[in-house]
Amino acid sequence: MASLLFLPEPVSHSPLKLVDHSLVSNASSRNLPFLGLRQRFLQHGSIHKMRIVRTSNQSGGLIDSKTDLSDAPLLSGLEALEKLKAYRENIKGQQQFLAMYSSIFGGITTDPAAMVIPMDDHMVHRGHGVFDTAAIMDGYLYELDQHLDRFLRSAIRAKIDPPFDRGSIRRILIQTVSASKCRKGSLRYWLSAGPGDFQLSPSGCHQSSLYAIVIQDLSPFTSRGVKVVTSSVPIKHPQFATTKSVNYLPNVVSKMEAEEAGAFAGIWLDNDGFVAEGPNMNVAFVNKEKELIMPHFDKILSGCTAKRVLTLAESLVKEGMLQGIRMKNVTVEEGKKADEMMLIGSGTLVRPVVQWDDQVIGDGKEGPVTQTLLNLIIEDMKSGPPTVRIPVPY
Ligand SMILES: Cc1ncc(COP(=O)(O)O)c(C=O)c1O
Repeated sequence: MASLLFLPEPVSHSPLKLVDHSLVSNASSRNLPFLGLRQRFLQHGSIHKMRIVRTSNQSGGLIDSKTDLSDAPLLSGLEALEKLKAYRENIKGQQQFLAMYSSIFGGITTDPAAMVIPMDDHMVHRGHGVFDTAAIMDGYLYELDQHLDRFLRSAIRAKIDPPFDRGSIRRILIQTVSASKCRKGSLRYWLSAGPGDFQLSPSGCHQSSLYAIVIQDLSPFTSRGVKVVTSSVPIKHPQFATTKSVNYLPNVVSKMEAEEAGAFAGIWLDNDGFVAEGPNMNVAFVNKEKELIMPHFDKILSGCTAKRVLTLAESLVKEGMLQGIRMKNVTVEEGKKADEMMLIGSGTLVRPVVQWDDQVIGDGKEGPVTQTLLNLIIEDMKSGPPTVRIPVPY
């Protein structure tokens, strides 16, 4: 929190792109992205020349057209907090953040303006942190223990010693959801090397930190088929792809590349050319033999939802809708000529893919197995066994 006092006007936090057309035409402008904003303004004049470009789901402007950036005021701690409050009140995103736990302040807040983490936290400036999620459905946490196990496995791989034991972390997470009063949405939580300094080594960090946030999401589940493209962004090395760390730059760039191509997600291939995963979801297929096939988890994130789907799909084998279930290396050719393709993850649930690059999948319509698996997962979230549904005591 203390580092908040040093925050300038939150330009870098702004969801806005600043475009100065006089810079674009300048021959030396190629190097400009690498200069600080302030230095750029000093070279090319004030913010008056800048035009604010908003991307589709962003609202509100942070920069007053009359403000000269050289006027960045020196704020007291209280003034900075007031600015944070105003920022949260003026910039209404599509998501609502209902509660946050932070081990830094040792408690839960429901004030979005206070949902911040210290700048010197190594998760911020070194990416030294891991995270995980759990969906909240009808006042229950779905697969909390499965996600928590993966979270702690990721922490070991990232060499982060948690500040509390598993039971305490679990209790804090449930209390945070309880304080939020959220009955439908998601819980996200992070374990970080913690604040301390701006070095690379975490040896100067006082204590690892735990953060959790509850996000409301009232949107209905969708089963509409989507298009995917093969990602040109290099896949992470298995050591890092199997760890759910905060280093999601390749995932973000892959998602953006897909969106630029009018697609929902990029599909990564592993270094041997086999199908790997999407940027925040696993991939599965129904082949011509009516088998559900899914890539092994040894080089990718082992998805909690994908594992649950594998279990739930057993009922479809019994009913004869599927002939079998197999984890195997899947070639691109095999994937593209499958009857069905689906994306699986806790955010996506089970999403049919109807086109991969130029190849239409199956008959180009949402497949029946995919649709049935989505229904099974939703049913499991709403009325599954106690091993996957943890009641939140509100
Ligand atoms: C890279 C990656 N793969 C797969 C998944 C799916 O995992 P889960 O079903 O546990 O959400 C995620 C989820 O965030 C992910 O980030």
